[in-house]
Amino acid sequence: MATSIAVTSGKGGVGKTNTAVNLATTLCRLGKRVILFDADFGLANAHVLLGTNPKTTTADFLAGKASMAETMTPAPLGLNFISGGSGLIELLNLDNQARYRMLAGLSSLQSEIDYLIVDCPAGASDSTLFFVNAADIALVVLVAEPTSFLDAYALLKAAYLEKNITEFSIMVNMAENSKTAEANFKKFRDIAMRFLDVKLHYAGMIPQSTAIRQSIIQRKPISVSQPKSTLAENYESLARHLMKAQKSTHDAVKFFDGTS
Ligand SMILES: Nc1ncnc2c1ncn2[C@@H]1O[C@H](COP(=O)(O)OP(=O)(O)OP(=O)(O)O)[C@@H](O)[C@H]1O
Ligand SMILES: [Mg+2]
Repeated sequence: MATSIAVTSGKGGVGKTNTAVNLATTLCRLGKRVILFDADFGLANAHVLLGTNPKTTTADFLAGKASMAETMTPAPLGLNFISGGSGLIELLNLDNQARYRMLAGLSSLQSEIDYLIVDCPAGASDSTLFFVNAADIALVVLVAEPTSFLDAYALLKAAYLEKNITEFSIMVNMAENSKTAEANFKKFRDIAMRFLDVKLHYAGMIPQSTAIRQSIIQRKPISVSQPKSTLAENYESLARHLMKAQKSTHDAVKFFDGTS
């Protein structure tokens, strides 16, 4: 059965999109069939990092001009990419009904894929909580800053109180090294578990790296352009953690239920 992973964060600009893109391409490299769905509709930019120029986007799907399958753009390593379009999509009134239509559109593709990666907007917006609720795995991107901790805690609290989600995978981005990354995870886990009845699992780390900045400027994900690099290994380790992660069992309308 296909697995859905929502990539989220409390604070903006912590590296969600770059993580979602590299996670998706790494899963492709590991032989998985993957869709990357850009759900950051107002500020969609995953296509920039992927180096693709989508002709169709979710806006076409919502306007009834294309099926969800028809909105897919081929991306590196056989990845299927669904663009969040430009700010235009906001004009289509992204209410819960529109979100459920997207969910149904993505559900209809479940027999064709192994993984759906959803790049979410920052923070605990209605949209993010909707997609996190529908996903099997909530991946929270953390950086070692008090503001990131605070905002990630707010996201966890909202997901727990509003959607009863108790399991979260955490990755530390822009880390100094693996030791400090894990120490930061533990610090964050201790804070979260002191106040909320949640379980946090460490999924891995990506170091602070000028090569990553460079890859974004060149519009070539590092896991595609430098598959033998240490950074690509870090993404592979993250992907392997998530492949083994337990799926959330909270009661919700999920992307995938194994029926079609
Ligand atoms: N591991 C890293 N090392 C160095 N720079 C990084 C790393 N990850 C991300 N960045 C930098 O951070 C910037 C923001 O990354 P990204 O767009 O992925 O964040 P985001 O969380 O998706 O942002 P937003 O909240 O706006 O959607 C990138 O343009 C890149 O320059
Ligand atoms: Mg982003």
